[in-house]
Amino acid sequence: MSSLGKIIVLLPFLFFCVFARVSSLNPVEEGKSINFQAGFGGITIGIGGSGSENPDDESDPDHDKKPVNGDEKDKDGNKFGSGGEQRIRFPFPQFGNHGEPRKEAKESGYNTGAATNDGPKPDFETNFLGSWKVDNPNAGVSAMHIQLLPNNKAVWYDTVNLGKSNILADPPACRGLVGGRQGEKGPDCTAHAIEYDVETAQVKTLKLEYDTWCSSGGMSPNGALVSTGGNQEGFRALRILNPCKNCQFQENPEALSANRWYATQILLENGSFVLVGGRAAHNYEIIPPEKLDFPIQQFGLPLLDESQDEKENNLYPFVNLLPDGNIFVFSNYKSIILNPYTGETLRNLPDLPGGSRSYPASGMSALLPINLNVENPENVDVEVIVCGGNARDAFKFSEFPPRKFFTAFKDCGRLILTKEGAQWEKEDMPSPRVMGDMLLLPTGDVLITNGAQAGTSGWDAAETPNLTPVLYSPNKNNGERFKELTPTDIPRMYHSTSAVLPDGQILIAGSNTNDYYKFNKADNPEMIYPTEVIVQKFSPPYLAPELQQYKPNILEVFSDKELKYGGEFNVRIRLNAQIDQSDIKVTMYSPPFTTHGYSMNQRLLILGLKQVTHRIVTAVAPPSGKLAPPGYYLLFVVHRGVPSRGMWVHIE
Ligand SMILES: *[C@@H]1O[C@H](CO)[C@@H](O)[C@H](O)[C@H]1NC(C)=O
Repeated sequence: MSSLGKIIVLLPFLFFCVFARVSSLNPVEEGKSINFQAGFGGITIGIGGSGSENPDDESDPDHDKKPVNGDEKDKDGNKFGSGGEQRIRFPFPQFGNHGEPRKEAKESGYNTGAATNDGPKPDFETNFLGSWKVDNPNAGVSAMHIQLLPNNKAVWYDTVNLGKSNILADPPACRGLVGGRQGEKGPDCTAHAIEYDVETAQVKTLKLEYDTWCSSGGMSPNGALVSTGGNQEGFRALRILNPCKNCQFQENPEALSANRWYATQILLENGSFVLVGGRAAHNYEIIPPEKLDFPIQQFGLPLLDESQDEKENNLYPFVNLLPDGNIFVFSNYKSIILNPYTGETLRNLPDLPGGSRSYPASGMSALLPINLNVENPENVDVEVIVCGGNARDAFKFSEFPPRKFFTAFKDCGRLILTKEGAQWEKEDMPSPRVMGDMLLLPTGDVLITNGAQAGTSGWDAAETPNLTPVLYSPNKNNGERFKELTPTDIPRMYHSTSAVLPDGQILIAGSNTNDYYKFNKADNPEMIYPTEVIVQKFSPPYLAPELQQYKPNILEVFSDKELKYGGEFNVRIRLNAQIDQSDIKVTMYSPPFTTHGYSMNQRLLILGLKQVTHRIVTAVAPPSGKLAPPGYYLLFVVHRGVPSRGMWVHIE
């Protein structure tokens, strides 16, 4: 995509297309409010004071699982270890006063363990290195941008201006063909966006008007996808998709203050988004969470000037919200702490040496899991990790023939963002990687997938796909943190994505190193890697079959799903094991918008715990929007490294 030549060739077509389309456009009505009634969630059934619910009434596929503890008895004399022949009946306490420790936990006949004050118990061990499966052999659209929504649909799209996709729009909708393979003829009646049911692998097409190519996005506090920017007629576009049945994008092509092509979008503490950078847009803006039309609020961002190389390397900056409400902005090798409301640079952070980490040298980055299970959760340290990338002039050599592909970087840097004077701590990945994806797992580990071992972002600008996922355990000692997992056999390089799913599997989709959809060499002799419309799911080690006996099951209807900042809440679980607080972690994950190797708005919070039994986990919601911007999160109960299925919760 970054091949300027192709853009210039396309321009006349694009212009025609814009003209043709704008004339038939429904103007966005001034001040028209959007209905954000989501057709999901929102139902909270409190569990306070209920002592009579019978857990056996709930459908629970795992209720016959073999218990963990062999031949033990609970206080009611129910025998454990009966391998499913005998149902286990847990005693039900009265609860409701969250502040008081429950005697029942201590009296239940369980050995509550001595480890409570000795920190968390170690994870259960497994030799399982993960497994791959095909979820859908043809999703029709290659996943260049992806966002999981709270209705368990992953929405993904590529671009409307680069030829036909592999699926027809349903209901039928055509537009003038822009670009396309040799011999491809218009009109283009294919879809360029889909909604993918992550449980059933069913595909529903969505209509997109304004080009989303290399755009940004995020989930609003109400669970809508807010998509921004893109290319050409989509440069300044804003699109909203509510997570409801038969909803379509609502679009405004003129919402933004600057062209946002390769920009980064994250949520601020109050639910507004900050939208940072883009090609030749060395500024940022604040946009409201749920409006198609709004007054401009733009600020200059000199960092994007200062970090621009001959071949950019300042695109898709890494941006994270910090516990004091300010933001971290990383571009190329430079980074700052910025007050988003004034545009003031509060601190210059040390350079990350070695080369370039931002697009098109495309390293990976994430804010490491934030541990709120501490005395003063409002004042925690947070740390960022940046890995891989390539030399600052790598794109100059990979972009055009005769192409030369520099080996990607293997190194990572970690920096504590909340400590003045902190320095980057360096360590090496097992293999070089550019354009990888970095996801925070429910357990607090980090998963690195996709990408290439040489070259950069850009069409045909990389080689040697990196097929081996890497697990990174941030809390281990430097030198022991990386572990290579089971490789895939499908290269996923430029324009590939991944997403953490509620069941803990990882959706892996996309990859198109070509300018158009190309599937075989017979039709496209110049093609090296096919456009991928195959969807895979990867099971990380915590999904090892032998670990599933330790897996907690959240009983959603008896759990609190609407959280209040700083408030205690209960999660009802089913777990056949004697446990205490040192066995359990409760984590809260904000499903990110992922594109071009960066997952925007991704964060994992490890919540404070008040009380833990094998039936009720009482946790403390994050103290404020600075640590957890308002919106939907996946909440996991993690039992010594084995996560439950995630439950959607909402906080504001
Ligand atoms: C969040 O704060 C910004 C800056 O003060 C403001 O412009 C914006 O309207 C606020 N958003 C909401 C949703 O209140």
